[in-house]
This record gives sequence, structure tokens and C-alpha cells, in this order.
Amino acid sequence: MKDTILIVDDRPNMIGLVKKVLQGEGRLVTAPSGRAAIDSLRAEPVDVVLCDLRLGDVDGLEVLRECKRLRPHAEFILMTAYASVDSAVEAMRLGAYDYVTKPFEPEHVRSVVLQALARVAANRVAEGTGDGMEVLPGLYAKAPSMVALAELVSKVAASTATVLLLGETGTGKERLARAVHALSPRRERRFIGINCAAIPADLLESELFGSSKGAFTGAMRDRAGLFEEADGGTLFLDEIGDMRLSLQAKLTRVLEERAIRRIGESRERKVDVRIVAATHRSIDRMVRTGAFREDLWYRLNVATVRIPPLRERPDDIELLTMHFLREVCAESVGRPLALSPAALEAICSYRWPGNVRQLRAAVERAAIVAGGERIEIGDLPPELVGAPGGEPADDLTGMAWAGALEKAKKRFGRRYLRSLLRQHEGEISEAAEAAGVERESFYRLLRRHDIDPSDYRE
Ligand SMILES: Nc1ncnc2c1ncn2[C@@H]1O[C@H](COP(=O)(O)OP(=O)(O)OP(=O)(O)O)[C@@H](O)[C@H]1O
Ligand SMILES: [Mg+2]
Repeated sequence: MKDTILIVDDRPNMIGLVKKVLQGEGRLVTAPSGRAAIDSLRAEPVDVVLCDLRLGDVDGLEVLRECKRLRPHAEFILMTAYASVDSAVEAMRLGAYDYVTKPFEPEHVRSVVLQALARVAANRVAEGTGDGMEVLPGLYAKAPSMVALAELVSKVAASTATVLLLGETGTGKERLARAVHALSPRRERRFIGINCAAIPADLLESELFGSSKGAFTGAMRDRAGLFEEADGGTLFLDEIGDMRLSLQAKLTRVLEERAIRRIGESRERKVDVRIVAATHRSIDRMVRTGAFREDLWYRLNVATVRIPPLRERPDDIELLTMHFLREVCAESVGRPLALSPAALEAICSYRWPGNVRQLRAAVERAAIVAGGERIEIGDLPPELVGAPGGEPADDLTGMAWAGALEKAKKRFGRRYLRSLLRQHEGEISEAAEAAGVERESFYRLLRRHDIDPSDYRE
């Protein structure tokens, strides 16, 4: 992936000049204000920031602080006038890579940016994070299934194809929808999201398509709907599985004709909107039972992306835990925290029915309640640690019956044998007798379950 350079200046001709100088050196993103710069930093991966000191709203030093927090791996270059050398010094103290004073030689700026890009690349290698971390803007993953998904999504994003996101609650469907927009040629235009399950069914239609004055009681004036507002951009229809059938029919027509009609109006208005839809429901089953229109399903099922639940990507559990821990420490705890190995193990073996959202909340809670330098197992939410002696959290429901039974038997066997040995302090004959098993067979059981009886002797 190309490196991203964010250019921040409130004067368009300055942005134009810098863009010309940096042509071809990376993906160039621009922001006309400090706030816009911070939004960009939040929304997408940025590798180098070239930022003016004086901006209309928040100043360059504030952007620098946010940059260090949101994109700790990015390098920051401040642009200042001679008069503000103090600020340049302050910027270096805050961790800026360098500063350039205005007016500047274009070649000089180019070479400073190139050096910063080289530093970013070197840091990446040193940390071994490579590109495997932030696989899409705002999405961190390293599980092979997610890396493959990210590749597919970046390809699909460039087109105008409708994207359908399927996945359990909290798997990152909304994040992914935003990433599709951020990577598409429509990124400068609006991304508008609407949750079809949260809006009363009779309001949803006018929300989407708009209405003319007097179309229904309470329609005081002509109003554009979200389709019109998202014109040129992306419309995210969240929880589309909850849309009622009559509206599904209307939506199908709109998608076919690429035109909408405001309620109470007869004229059609062309709209150019990219649709990303999502649902946590099993929509193919809904199609089979008639709860979801088949023709709409065909319209939506163009580029379908299934996000696997977190329990099916164990590699990501650890990566996201560490990622959220760093984030939470910087944002709300104010000091770095480590994680005890036992706590990490508990996190990694939990089922995470609420997926990434639940993981983030659990890490945040643990970080806040942790008293010392380290998160201990006792700081974790109780459901993770489980009732003593209860079933360990597991991923059995993701497996077929025969395999699940086999795995459960193994687990039970280990637990049983271990507690028996503990009770008899590693005395085989006693333990075997208690189990009602011949001594030789008991040894075989221990070997099969990979247990060493000497661990239990005094
Ligand atoms: N791969 C990821 N990397 C970083 N953060 C993630 C990732 N996946 C999800 N998140 C975070 O987890 C939370 C839940 O994500 P999101 O809202 O996108 O899920 P969702 O699938 O839309 O959930 P729901 O079905 O409940 O609406 C958000 O805070 C999001 O930022
Ligand atoms: Mg969502």
C-alpha cells in the first residue's frame, strides 16, 4: 500500500503548491483546517503529516498532539514562519520529526518529507508490525481470514458496486462500511449512515427519500431525503434485515432506476449514491422464508463480505487486546499498563459473543479498575473468568457435533485427571483406585491427556 501524506493548510494555494511538490511520492490527502486534519487522522491511516502552524481553528501544535495520540507511528513536519521559531522548538519537543520555515524552497520540503517517509518505513520494520496491523482504515487485524477480507474490500471499494456486510453484532460492520467509503473515489463526499432498525417504519421512507410540503401531516416544507444528501457519496443502510417488506420494494426500485421520488411528488430525481448495507441477521434464511425480498437481495448481494466472529480469529483477539489497551491507556487512563499472562489467557479463551465491541469494553473496564502497573485476572469482567469449576469458555458451538464432543471430552478428561492427581498428590495407585481404573490403564489415560503425574508430587 502507498504511504499517505496529509497536507494541512488553511490556504488553498499553499495546499496546491505542496501537492505539486509532492506529486507521486504517496497518496496525498489534504485538510483545510486543524479540525479537518484531526478528522482525517482519526478516519484513515496517515504516515506523514505536513502541517501549517497557524490554522483557522485549532493550531498546528494541537494537531501534532492529536497526531501523536491517534497515529503514534506517523511522522509530523511543522510549517512555520520565521517569526514563530519558538513554536518550532515546542513542536520538536512534542515529538515532531522536523520543521520547515516559510517561505521555503520546494525541493527542501520534498526532501524533508522523503526523509520522514524513510523513517516511517524503518520504524515499521523495527517493530515488525509491517502492514499486517491496520488492514483497512480504522480496522486492525492479522488473522488470515481478515487479511484476505481486507484485500477484497480494498478492491471492491474502488468501484461503485453495492457492498453487503454480514456479521454478528460488534464484528466491525460499521467500521468496514466507513473504510469502504474512505478508500473509494467518493471519499471527499459525504458518508451518511442510517440504522433501519432504529427508525420507526413509517418515518424511514421519508427519511430515505424525502417528502414534499403537505405530503403527510407534519410535512411543513419540502425536504430532501438521505439519498439526495448522500448524492455523490455513500449511503450506509445499517440493519437492512429489519426493513419492512413494503419499503424493501421501494428501495429495490430506487436501486434499479438510480432515481428517487420524494413522498408526495411525482417527478423523479436522479441520484448517484453508492450503497453499503449491513445486517447481523442471516439474510439468506430470511429470503427463503419470505421475510426479505428476493429481488432486493439480488440487488444487494453484489459484493458480499462476511466478517467472521472474533472467536473464529484467535490471532486477532490478542492483537486487538493490545491495540485497545494502548488506546485506552492514552485516552482515559493516562499511564501505560501491562497485562498479566493469566489475564491475557483468559481473554484469549473467552467466546466473545459481543465480538470486538465487547472486547474493547472489557479492556477499557479492566484498565480503569486496575490498581497497579498491570491488569490482573481479577480486573477482568466476571463473565471472562467464569464461575470456579464451571465450563471454561470455548468455541465449541462453532464446530460440528462430532468434533465438539471430542474436544469437550478431552477437556473434561484433563480436568478430571488433574484434580484427581491433585487430590491424591500424584499417587497413581490411589488415584487409579478412586477412578475405578486399572493402574496400567490409568497411566495410558495420563499419557493420552499429556499429564505428568510427577508435577503433582510434593
Ligand atoms: N478490526 C477492528 N479494529 C479496531 N476496532 C474495531 C475493529 N472491529 C471493530 N472495531 C470496533 O468495535 C466496535 C464495534 O464495531 P462496529 O460498530 O463497526 O460493529 P458492528 O458490526 O456495526 O456492530 P452492530 O452489529 O452491533 O451494529 C467499534 O468501536 C469499532 O471501532
Ligand atoms: Mg453497527
